[in-house]
Amino acid sequence: MRTKIVAGNWKMHKNAEETEDLLNELIDKLPSDKEVRIIVAPTFVNLASAVDHLEFTNIGVAAQNMHQAESGAFTGEISADMLKSIGVDTVILGHSERRAYFHESDALLASKVDTALKHDMTVIFCFGEELKDRQSGNHFNIVENQLNDGIFHVEEKSWENIILAYEPVWAIGTGETASSEQAQEMHEFIRETIRRKFGSNVAEDVSILYGGSVKPDNAKEIFGKPDVDGGLIGGAALKATDFAAIVDGI
Ligand code: 13P
Repeated sequence: MRTKIVAGNWKMHKNAEETEDLLNELIDKLPSDKEVRIIVAPTFVNLASAVDHLEFTNIGVAAQNMHQAESGAFTGEISADMLKSIGVDTVILGHSERRAYFHESDALLASKVDTALKHDMTVIFCFGEELKDRQSGNHFNIVENQLNDGIFHVEEKSWENIILAYEPVWAIGTGETASSEQAQEMHEFIRETIRRKFGSNVAEDVSILYGGSVKPDNAKEIFGKPDVDGGLIGGAALKATDFAAIVDGI
C-alpha cells in the first residue's frame, strides 16, 4: 500500500519566531489518529530549528530546494551534505516557481535529483503544465516530457525515495483548483506512464500528491480520488487550523 502524504511548502514565508509559533500550533492541532506522513518545508534558515523542534513528533522536515554540486564556489547555495548534516533528509525539487523564476531546466533538475538520491534523500519531485498547455490540450504531453527529462533516468530502486507532486501552474496560489476529476485524470495518466517505464510495482507504490489551491473545503474530495495520495499545500499550510483540517481530509 502506498503512503498517504500531506506536505506544507511554506515558500518564502515565516521568520524564525513565526516558524516556531506555527510549529507549536501544528503540534497542538494536527490529528494524531491518521495514517498519514506529514512534512513541512520551512525556509533554509529555519530548517535546523524546525528539526530540533519536531524531534519527538511525527512531523518530518523538508528543504524547498538544493544545489546539485557537492560543494564549491556557488555563493548563496546549499548542498545535500549541509541539509543532511542538520537532519533534513527530504527535499522538494522542480517546483514551478523554481522552474519559472530561477530558470531551472529539466536537465538541471535531473542532476539535482541524482545528487539528492546519492545522499539517500527523499525527493518530492514537482511538475505540472501551464494554463496555455491545458487550453491547447497539450497538458499530458508536457507532463510526460517533464517526467521523462527530469526523473525517468533514475534506477528502479530509487523510486522508494521518490514522491511525485503534480502541481498545475494555473492552480498555484490562484484560488483556482483543478477539479477532483481533472486531478484524478492526470494522476491516473502519471501512474500509467510510470507503469509503462518502470512496471506495476513501482507505479502502484509511488505516492502522487496534488498541489494547487488545496484548502480545507476541497481537500477531502480531491484526496478521495483513487490515484491522489495526498497533497502539497502552499498558502493553506501557513495556518495551523487550515493545514490540520486538510490533513483531516486524507
Ligand atoms: P497553493 O496551495 O498556495 O496554491 O500552492 C501550492 C504549491 O505551490 C505547493 O508547492
